[in-house]
Amino acid sequence: MQEPIYDFGLIGLGTMGNNLLLNMADHGFEVAGYDKDLEKVKVLANEKGDIYAAETIEDFVNSLEKPRKIMLLVPAGKIVDYVLADLLPLVDEGDIIMDGGNSYFKDTERRQTECEKHGHYFLGIGISGGAEGARRGPSMMPGGNKKAYDKVKPILEAVAAKVGKQPCVTYLGEGSVGNYVKMVHNGIEYGLMQILAEAYDVMKRGLGMTNDEIGDAFTDWNEKELQSFLVEITARIFRVEDQETGKDVLDLILDKGKQKGTGKWTSQDALDVGVPIPTIDLAVIARAISAFKQDRVAASEILTGPETVIKKDKKAYIRRLKNATLFSFLVTYAQGMDLLKHASVEYKYNLDLEGVAKIWRGGCIIRAKMLEDFRRAYKKDADLANLLVDAGIAKKVNKTQKDTRTVIADSVKAGIPLPCIGACLAYFDSYRTARLPMNLTQAQRDFFGSHTYERLDKEGIFHTEWGEKNV
Ligand code: 6PG
Repeated sequence: MQEPIYDFGLIGLGTMGNNLLLNMADHGFEVAGYDKDLEKVKVLANEKGDIYAAETIEDFVNSLEKPRKIMLLVPAGKIVDYVLADLLPLVDEGDIIMDGGNSYFKDTERRQTECEKHGHYFLGIGISGGAEGARRGPSMMPGGNKKAYDKVKPILEAVAAKVGKQPCVTYLGEGSVGNYVKMVHNGIEYGLMQILAEAYDVMKRGLGMTNDEIGDAFTDWNEKELQSFLVEITARIFRVEDQETGKDVLDLILDKGKQKGTGKWTSQDALDVGVPIPTIDLAVIARAISAFKQDRVAASEILTGPETVIKKDKKAYIRRLKNATLFSFLVTYAQGMDLLKHASVEYKYNLDLEGVAKIWRGGCIIRAKMLEDFRRAYKKDADLANLLVDAGIAKKVNKTQKDTRTVIADSVKAGIPLPCIGACLAYFDSYRTARLPMNLTQAQRDFFGSHTYERLDKEGIFHTEWGEKNV
């Protein structure tokens, strides 16, 4: 029987799990891993360092020091429940189970209740950064019981990405907040990725640029305000050749977007909470439209549009497009943060938005230079109504909106769809409009359904007899 000597255990030895264990071992922790798939256990057993690769879940559990600290890194959904069903009979009171996958936040609440019934702790920990992040330092978004978090804090802080000396992990609060914050992270990720795809479309089809030229433009954008992981990898993608054909890999990739669900959940929950995040909604929709490839190919023979050309001086136009991208990035983050602000009230998360901006500065997929500006904005005013009204951010969006309008107008004329960049501008224009035409909608509701309305000139609830005779 295995001696209980290991500090931390991980179930789910995919690339991420394996890499996270190697990262922990690098930091001097004694760790154990287990997977139902013995091939994966073998891979771990062949890694260097003091890592125990357990062949049975019993050996794995017995190898851990108490209170046991066990992280699951398995695909979100039913598999988490299956693993828990195997694990729970083997663990003891006070043991800490962590779910590091992209689990739906309401599933985490259910699992927390179940675990607490048996005296175990269950933390939902959003982890971002992919396989590379797990190996070199991810950003982690933990939520659940504070005392349990404090027991795993040293190890999480040691392996997390660092900005300066600060680890990209912080306790976010009780319940499912860790998974919720990770869900919104992914929603923002969908938005930013779609914005970059739209900028690519403008450069490729609108301006007729080559892949090399587009790669150079993204490289240049990554130097300054737009500096971010997603812009960086986008620039790199344009330089990769397919070994077999010698063509650019990008040109060979089928234009059908796939998704695992976190973007959709963000939109669904934002609708429930009543917070507008149109850029994220449209990013989900852009993937959905793209999935109908066959239909689009057929429709392209039937439905007509203008010539997809933007006849402008390339160099000057790329600058405008960069500003439109910067504008859209800022507005997308603002929507995501706004959702977190309101969800925090709805779900009683008591979330510290400065803390969220802080741990998103490094390690995660949406890490970007501008996150430091957001952190400062929330440090200055923790109750900021919206990131866009912070003086520094307002200055940037006010300055870049003009170029955003130009790019959208030219793309509309050229028949190039910019759903997310367009949604950013519409959100901005709606949000900065003191009087929207919603008075008419309210009047219509009252007309056909006596739904009543409020007035500008006096308090109360009103109804008008709109004149049935005239209908
Ligand atoms: C991360 C990523 C990660 C994953 C996405 C992909 O933060 O490391 O967001 O969680 O790559 O879930 O999501 P889709 O498959 O839905 O694009």
